[in-house]
Amino acid sequence: MVIRIAAVGDVHLDEDVVGRFRPALEELPECADVLLLAGDLTRHGTEAEARCVAEEFGGLAVPVVTVLGNHDHQCDQVPQVVKVLEDAGITVLEGNGVVLDCAGGRLGIAGVKGFGGGFAGRCASDFGEPEMKAFVRTTTESAERLGTALRSLDCDMLVALTHYAPVPDTLVGEPLEIYPFLGSYQLGQAIDSAPTALAVHGHAHAGTERGTTPGGVRVRNVAHPVIKQAYSVFHVGDQLDTDQVSPIGQSGSQRSWS
Ligand SMILES: [Fe+2]
Ligand SMILES: [Fe+2]
Repeated sequence: MVIRIAAVGDVHLDEDVVGRFRPALEELPECADVLLLAGDLTRHGTEAEARCVAEEFGGLAVPVVTVLGNHDHQCDQVPQVVKVLEDAGITVLEGNGVVLDCAGGRLGIAGVKGFGGGFAGRCASDFGEPEMKAFVRTTTESAERLGTALRSLDCDMLVALTHYAPVPDTLVGEPLEIYPFLGSYQLGQAIDSAPTALAVHGHAHAGTERGTTPGGVRVRNVAHPVIKQAYSVFHVGDQLDTDQVSPIGQSGSQRSWS
């Protein structure tokens, strides 16, 4: 029993990019059961940019599930952006989950944008000024919602979808100074609180593709500048947790628009 998951993040669409992903996206049914988008779909989070995302990722032959990224919040038009995406048939997660019936079983996806804060031994703490407490509590609440969503899904395979990173492994290549703004160990703890098979995130454009949570969950940074292709394909299953294993998956995953 295998479920095939295509994923990409940080596509940062505007009118000049529309159409570049589409040829590879049309091939998705050959290599994937679902497409996950790991946030930063737009550059500045405008409704007009969201319409570009809807045009590029709407109407595909596989379900599309997304979280938003920090860029998608920039113009304070999140409700409008979400509506445009949902009208295009894209499922937008924020602290909740969805279960999809795939040929290989029921796939549970829990998603949250996440937030920063840093990683064990080098993290912000809920102490001092109200502003610092608010920063850290934003992350804590986000991680708690992710954990609750993960543990609540009734499914055969479980995937966590975030924009911010749950581990530092996939940030290697980014300046150390900005790690606290790229993710939080609390997201990793949430992922480890459930039998998660795969965790997918974006946001770290200069990071590294592969990592692992302290609990052993496979983490993949699918930011487009990292994977340098339209999407990567991951297989999860009873005894098969692999990246891009099938000839069809390799073909699809290697398609690049750059
Ligand atoms: Fe980004
Ligand atoms: Fe981002």
